[in-house]
Parts: sequence; C-alpha cells; structure tokens
Amino acid sequence: MNGINRNILIGVFLVLTAGCSSSDHEPSPLPLPESCGNGLCEFGEFCAICPSDCDCNTLAATPPMGWNSWNRFGCDIDERLAKETADAMVETGMRDAGYVYLNLDDCWQISRAPDGTIIEDRERFPSGIPALSDYVHSKGLKFGLYTCAGTRTCQERPGSAGYEYIDAKTYALWNIDYIKVDWCNTQGMVPHVQYQIMKEAIEYAGRPMVYSICNWGWDYPHIWGPYTGNLWRTTGDIADEFIRMLYNFYMTEQLSAFAGPGHWNDPDMLEVGNGGMTDEEYRAHMSLWAIMAAPLIAGNDLRIMSEATKEILLNREVIAVDQDPWGLPGVRFTKGLAGVWARPVAAEGTRAVVLFNPLWDTRELSVQWSSLGLASTSARVRDLWLHKDLGVFASGYRAAVPPHHAQMLLVKGQEHIPPSGVTYLSDYPWMYASNAKGDVLRDRAAPGTPITIRGKRYDKGLGVFGASTILFHLGDACTWLSTEVGIDDSAPEGQGSVVFRVATDHVERFKSEVVRQGMEPQKVEISLSGVHVLKLVVETTGDSLYGDHAVWADARVSCR
Ligand code: GLA
Repeated sequence: MNGINRNILIGVFLVLTAGCSSSDHEPSPLPLPESCGNGLCEFGEFCAICPSDCDCNTLAATPPMGWNSWNRFGCDIDERLAKETADAMVETGMRDAGYVYLNLDDCWQISRAPDGTIIEDRERFPSGIPALSDYVHSKGLKFGLYTCAGTRTCQERPGSAGYEYIDAKTYALWNIDYIKVDWCNTQGMVPHVQYQIMKEAIEYAGRPMVYSICNWGWDYPHIWGPYTGNLWRTTGDIADEFIRMLYNFYMTEQLSAFAGPGHWNDPDMLEVGNGGMTDEEYRAHMSLWAIMAAPLIAGNDLRIMSEATKEILLNREVIAVDQDPWGLPGVRFTKGLAGVWARPVAAEGTRAVVLFNPLWDTRELSVQWSSLGLASTSARVRDLWLHKDLGVFASGYRAAVPPHHAQMLLVKGQEHIPPSGVTYLSDYPWMYASNAKGDVLRDRAAPGTPITIRGKRYDKGLGVFGASTILFHLGDACTWLSTEVGIDDSAPEGQGSVVFRVATDHVERFKSEVVRQGMEPQKVEISLSGVHVLKLVVETTGDSLYGDHAVWADARVSCR
C-alpha cells in the first residue's frame, strides 16, 4: 500500500473514532493502521499503537505521550482525580491514540519516613501511591511521578537532593514508568552534575523509567541532556496563552539538531482544552508540537473535554507526524515569525509540513517541493486538520494563512535518485538537514572557509556545526559511500570534539570514537547495496559546542 492510501486510511480512522462514547464497558480499541503487522514500522505506526512492528525497546523511541496534572490542576490533585483521569484516558480513546503515561506532578508527596523513604499525602491519596499505580496499570496505562533535583520541590514538598537512590528505588518498587525531575531549591547545584546523579540512581534501581529533565532550559540541557535523560525542558513554564506558547515554540524549534529517538526537546506540556486560547490557536499549538517532535503530554481535564478539544488531541494524522518512527524534528524553511517548517516521515517521498502564521493579518506562505528535497515532479497534498486531499500541485504549494492559524500538510512527491557514477553528496540534494547553528554548508567548513583537516585540503564535502543530521535518498541505486571525517582546522586549537555516526535505512553502520581538533582525518567506507536512506549524524560529546566544526570531507557515493 502506498503512503497516500495509508494516510487516507488514517484519516478514515479518525472519522470512525471521533466522539467515542463513554459507557460501563471498556470501549473497543481504536482500529490499528492497516500496515500494522507487516514487520515494518512505517508512517502512522509507533510502539504504543503497533508494538509488533515498532521499537518498544528504546525508552521514548518516539516522544512520550500522556497526561500530566500540573497545567490544569496545579497542587489540587488527589486519588479520585487520578483514577477518573485514568478512566477518561481509556473511554475517550486517548490511550488507544497513544497517550499512555498518566503523570502526577507536584504535591503528591508530603514528607519522608525516618529511613528517608518518600511518603505520599495520605489525606489526598488514602489508598497510597502503590495502589494507584496498580489501578493505572490495570487500565493499560503507564504511571509517572514528579520530584525535584533540589532540597524541596517548587511547591515546597520534599525534594530528591541527597535522596536520589532511595527515591529511584522506591519508584521502581512502585512500578513507576516515568520520572519528571524539577529544578527548584537547587542553590549551589550544577544542572548537568545534579541530573547525572538521578540518572545513575535510576540505572541502579533497575527499572526502565523515562527520565524527564525539567530545568527550564538552563545550562544548555540540549547539549548534555541526550546523555542524561530522555527529554529536557527547553524553556520556562508554558501558560495557557498564545504568546507564551509561541515563545516556547520559537525557543525550541531552533534546537532540532539535538533531538531524536530516545532523547527529545521538551517545550513543555500541552494547554489544549484549558480555555485560554481559541480552538484555532490550540490547533496551531498541536501542529507546532507535532512538527517539532515534541512530547505530547495533555494538560487539560480529560473528564470534561469538548468535542473540539477531542478532535484536536485525538487527530490521528497529526499524532502520526509527531510519533513518526524516524524521529526527525522539523526544520524551518523560512525566516521571520510566520513561516514553514517540515520534516520527512517514514514513507517514501513524504514530508509533513506546517505553514504557520502567528501574526494579526493573513499571510501568504509557500513552499517549493525542491526546497523539501523532493524531485521537481508534482506532489499530492493532504490537509491533516481538514482530513482532506487538496489535490496535486506542480512545483510547490501556496496558501493565504489566516492569523494564528497553522495549516498542517502531508506532501507526497518523489525522492531524488542519484545518477550513475560517482556523486559528491555536496552536489546532491538532501532530504533533510538539521544543524546546531546556521545551515549545513556545501564544500565549506562551518565558518564558511575551505575544508582542511590537519593541513589536508578538500575541495568537496559537507561542513556542519556541533550537532547535525543529514538524510539522503539513495533509492537502492548506490554501491558504496566514502568520506573522511574530522574537525576542520578552523576550530581553535584544543577545541572541538564530536562523534560521527552513519546509519543506512535507520540502522547504525558506523560510529567513531570521539574525534578532536588536530586529529588525522578518519576514512569511512560503507557498502550501500539495498540502501534507500543514508543518514549522516554528528553528535556533541556533551561538552560545549565551541570549535565543533565537523566535516564530512570528500563525501561521495558511487551509484549504478
Ligand atoms: C515547575 C515546573 C512545572 C511544574 C511545577 C510544579 O514550575 O516547570 O512544570 O512541575 O514546577 O511545582
């Protein structure tokens, strides 16, 4: 089945499943995508809805989805709310759409026992957290708790500083699946040091638990976060206001190079359904989070959702973009506030695109297929909010986008195929390129200078900075890849350290040791027979990005 038919099917699921009624019986689960069970994890599938095809071994292989108490209820939480929310997650279809984590935020805890064990507020949680954990799990959900890296939480409850091992062990004993760790009352502590302690405590506790770092973007968590946790907050708290949602979006969309399967940028939880924005603005909020591959943690009262709120949170086509198994966070194609963001998804020739206008007047926004790395043939366009095919468009798409509106599209065109012979990758269009700062450069190193590694000069190659992912479509036409990797001589002496990785069809084929400035170029040769998609990744080593002028020198493929 081709991508478009599958997408239409996903749209049909939505129509079939909108407005699931609540009843005494467990509602019947949402139908699975038709491709589920064919052994391939394709667009529209992810672990929570298709465990037989998709990666369920990597923790947070796709951005976590669920619900958290804070945005709507603050400190006013109790056992009844948690149980009713668990019930609502099942009845409304949230669980079956992928929202599987039920997370209690601040205020579930009250004190510590003499041996240091954390104690829940028994007035609000009379049956205790372990019993609640059992209840949540009995509903086919996963359960998360909140704590704080400091001495006390933001609401002055006991924090985990000095108790990391006891807390991680207790949570493991209670079958907790997700831990959010906040950053209040941390005077004198250093984020990357403090969060590392809890990471080790979780490993020691021996239960896989998603580790959510919540230090509001301080101390560049996107640099060390990938080595420490599964997601890290990129900003301060969201609020139920369009302007605050925008701020969190723009602060996060520029960090796409740092996120990927198992480690995600977290622009904070959703406000959809809380009443402070229009439905149009909430649709934009959901579209922006999905194109960024942000966690989708609902923050509203799931027991009393309007039809519009359900329609937004349960849009299976939009969720499919967020949860796409390739996990490539969208990148920006325009300058300015209004603009276009896009990401390839796991279906040949397919890109998810958002045209977003945050301004007060209507804006014309457009995207060319060639800028999305597609061949210059026509492409089919589907609107993911209207669940409607818009038709076939010759070389691009243009729309007048109303104020505070996001149009979310799926574009299905044709990928490029390399010509026969040797092709330098810097002469061949990429499907996707993210970079920590600025653009990926062709035949230049990051500062715009000619490529030179330890005095050896290269005319061809790709120059990136700090962290980067570049995808090329090879379409089973090539036989080998050859490149020399290193830090460009433009990096200041003693600065610059990265790791190079190569994956073919999303399976890792090469991973370098730490490559530093001043080292000899390292030759990499990889056979490419049968390969459709080539992925070149540069990662930081968790330290500063200063001098990380990484180059894929002489990168070329040989094709039939
Ligand atoms: C901080 C976090 C919020 C929430 C509150 C709880 O502000 O950023 O997400 O957890 O603390 O007190």
